Amino acid sequence: MQLQRSMSILTTPTSLPLVAPSILSADFANLGEECEKTLAAGADLLHLDVMDGHFVPNLTMGPALCNSLRSRMPDVYLDVHLMVNKPMEYVESFAKAGCNLFTGHVEANDDPFALAEAIHDAGMDAGIAINPPTDVEDILPYIEAFDLVLVMSVNPGFSGQAFIPEVLSKVEVIAERLRPDQRLQMDGGVGAATCESCRSAGCDVLVAASAIFGSDDYATAITGLRGH
Ligand code: DX5
Ligand code: ZN
Repeated sequence: MQLQRSMSILTTPTSLPLVAPSILSADFANLGEECEKTLAAGADLLHLDVMDGHFVPNLTMGPALCNSLRSRMPDVYLDVHLMVNKPMEYVESFAKAGCNLFTGHVEANDDPFALAEAIHDAGMDAGIAINPPTDVEDILPYIEAFDLVLVMSVNPGFSGQAFIPEVLSKVEVIAERLRPDQRLQMDGGVGAATCESCRSAGCDVLVAASAIFGSDDYATAITGLRGH
């Protein structure tokens, strides 16, 4: 368990920022191929958006899909973003499915410290996410327990929404409180027009669905997001 975490690309990244395609905008009928294409084009990890129809008004994927991707790509870093009520209930099943990073929301009615402990005990990196309307003060007491903080830059539920620039001030507040081994992730509306402001504000893991899967040149899209 500990071996898996000590090899995490979050704590020992070869270069930053990391680029994480969100597979929500992939062609689900060709998912394995689509994922491999983004990795060959320079993506650092894969971002899986799990939605339960309650925390957000949409249904997407679960542990079985994570497990299938793990079987097909034994070495890929799988970042699972849980937009669900009670993420604690899914820690074990995603750990068994080969998830590397398990991110729950601060708004999701679990004790964040207990969640971080359960995720770490299950051998995964731990993330905590915050929605655009939530006050930054609501997440600050918990961030020291997590390996990654995810600042949502759209209201979660669907890909292809417009970036909410007001969240950048939240990123700046969080960035100055993080240790060097902690990552700051932005998710929602990240693309050619917005990635530079995300990087300048302190984000070092950029998630993008439509900006990558909606492009006909994944490598150019990924290089553009990374900025080099
Ligand atoms: C939104 C999800 C995002 C989403 C991003 O609820 O958490 O990961 O797929 O999509 P784009 O990059 O198209 O905004
Ligand atoms: Zn996401």
